[in-house]
Amino acid sequence: MSIEDEFISTVSHEMRTPLTSIRGFSQTLLNSWDKIDDENKKKFIKIIEEQSNRLINLVENILTVSKANAGKPVMTMVDINASIRKILPIFVEKYKNHKIVFNEYKKLPKARLDDDKFQQVMTNLIDNAGKYSAEGKTITISTNVQNDFITIDVADEGVGIKREDFGKLFQKFSRLENHLTSKTQGNGLGLYITKHLVEEMSGEISLESVENKGTTFRLKFPIYNPEEALKCFQKS
Ligand SMILES: Nc1ncnc2c1ncn2[C@@H]1O[C@H](COP(=O)(O)OP(=O)(O)O)[C@@H](O)[C@H]1O
Ligand SMILES: [Mg+2]
Repeated sequence: MSIEDEFISTVSHEMRTPLTSIRGFSQTLLNSWDKIDDENKKKFIKIIEEQSNRLINLVENILTVSKANAGKPVMTMVDINASIRKILPIFVEKYKNHKIVFNEYKKLPKARLDDDKFQQVMTNLIDNAGKYSAEGKTITISTNVQNDFITIDVADEGVGIKREDFGKLFQKFSRLENHLTSKTQGNGLGLYITKHLVEEMSGEISLESVENKGTTFRLKFPIYNPEEALKCFQKS
């Protein structure tokens, strides 16, 4: 089966479950309206709403996947710190009750990246850090230089990930069991898209995690330009 066929078959499977449930509960309501008490009517409508939301989310993510796959990346020299600063306000607002810290490495050389795709990657990682950690916890984003690489860490103090699940994380539609996955919206496409985008830009993604302590995702991008590389070793 080609990647496209496999994708279509997974997507249809993912859509069938909510659609079947929306149809079933609507039919029951229509056919037995007089026999169902108000409380149960409300319960059924609530299920229809939840399943519709699930579908909307799925469709949005599929659009993101096809956008992410569409077109070659447009590579320019990107100021990573500036790029991160641009998207941070979204998460300061969205995760009001978390503490968000950004440790910028001041002399970070520019990296050859597609800025839009890089922002999409950071959005996915910071959103996960917020989703899979409790309110009041800290999300720390740090940029750094390590030999001839730029590193970007997104660290949370959340539920953590078991080592044996590390491989599963990046597969499409895979969500892990934890008490926050059931409470949060998601369909397991985020990290699949993220890894794809990072590798397309010659980067690497890795993680370290301790269960119930937290997770750090690390991105690594090569420093191509020797002049850029020198800048971070010069004294200001
Ligand atoms: N920072 C994190 N801490 C703990 N678990 C995480 C984190 N990021 C991702 N995960 C786990 O990996 C799964 C896949 O992540 P992702 O592909 O972004 O999908 P989604 O967020 O839509 O569930 C999540 O369902 C969650 O179980
Ligand atoms: Mg996600």
